Amino acid sequence: MKLNKIFLAASMLCSANSALAGEVEVLHWWTAGGEANAISVLKNMLEKQGYSWIDFGVEGGGGESAMRVLRTRAVSGNPPSAANIKGPDIQEWARLGFLTNLDSVAKPDHWDDVIPKMITDVMKYDNHYVAVPVNVHRVNWLWANSAVFAQAGAKIPTTMDEFFTAAEKIKAIGLIPLAHGSQPWQDATLFEVVALDVLGARDYIKAFVDLDMDILGGEKMIEVFTKFKRVRSYVDNNSPGRNWMTATSMVINGEAGMQIMGDWAKGEFSAAGKVPGKDYVCAPAFGTAGKFTYNVDSFAFFELQDEENFKAQKALASTILDPKFQEIFNLNKGSIPVRLDMDMSHFDQCALDSMKDFKSSAQTGDLVPSMAHGMSTAGYVQGAMFDVITNFFNDQSAVPAEAVQRLAKVVKSAM
Ligand code: GAL
Repeated sequence: MKLNKIFLAASMLCSANSALAGEVEVLHWWTAGGEANAISVLKNMLEKQGYSWIDFGVEGGGGESAMRVLRTRAVSGNPPSAANIKGPDIQEWARLGFLTNLDSVAKPDHWDDVIPKMITDVMKYDNHYVAVPVNVHRVNWLWANSAVFAQAGAKIPTTMDEFFTAAEKIKAIGLIPLAHGSQPWQDATLFEVVALDVLGARDYIKAFVDLDMDILGGEKMIEVFTKFKRVRSYVDNNSPGRNWMTATSMVINGEAGMQIMGDWAKGEFSAAGKVPGKDYVCAPAFGTAGKFTYNVDSFAFFELQDEENFKAQKALASTILDPKFQEIFNLNKGSIPVRLDMDMSHFDQCALDSMKDFKSSAQTGDLVPSMAHGMSTAGYVQGAMFDVITNFFNDQSAVPAEAVQRLAKVVKSAM
């Protein structure tokens, strides 16, 4: 009886403490194996500091569903503490008055000194931090199964022509050359790789950041769609609706030879215990060596009423940029740390190559924002582009010149 009372008192004390310590509710779409391992690192580190974690994971690669759910929650006056919001959309949310000021964490933690300015600029609204970057993903990667390539007698392609040669050889041994899931964001991921190869970095930026109609509606863009169609012909007929991690697993288990996908795919290879350079190869996607399409995941922080939850929010913000978190999270996620002062000795060759190219491409003007992952425009412009790209992908008889006209038209009306 006495013991029971002590136990009861202790547990009441505990729950009082955790209520006092505040909670964070975090919206994300990291539900694949590697992604889930990565986000659980954040949960554990927060809980260790005494805060409660409410997981708000919404399934669906690329985050379209998550963003839809977020809009509903925010408009009804019940936003989460933090949500994975990226690129120009951060500005939109801040402009509407939803986000909170994180300067009281950013200043003592020296964010301005450890994160590249090109990234901190996106995290600030009106010169104040409203979001925290988590990582840098490279999108223009090709993932290849070493055994399939050996069996097919194929060579890892560096150009689009070499890609077609390798794809033919893989097809000849009865396997799927290119694993892909036809969903708008995945189609756009493949499309922007072709676009970067055909247009080069300067015109890619003109098209997808500046929305320059001469490029968006021009001859070179017709070539992009024409080549996109040829690349597409190496995808199997079961691709509609397939999620990206299923496509990755097709490469992991040798059903398919290649996938073009950002390095969150590496999180799946790692979670399956596969070793780069042995079981699989990571290489810049055809025609884009030295170029780097970046996708920076970041959490935007919402304005909350509860003082204790605001404290928990600040702990979350600080933990995200803690070097220990940066290391373990990014090892699981497949990305590289967003801090430039990290010890990279535990990272594999793919991550080291990524870091090297991230830095060098910034010098040569070959660092470009991913259109497919919300880095180059706000969501409404991106959505207009997705429609044209995905309709083209799904219609075998689509004509490149007509798709280009449509692209220019929808972007103009979304601007
Ligand atoms: C991206 C996101 C990545 C990864 C991927 C697949 O947009 O930035 O972190 O989760 O979607 O869902």
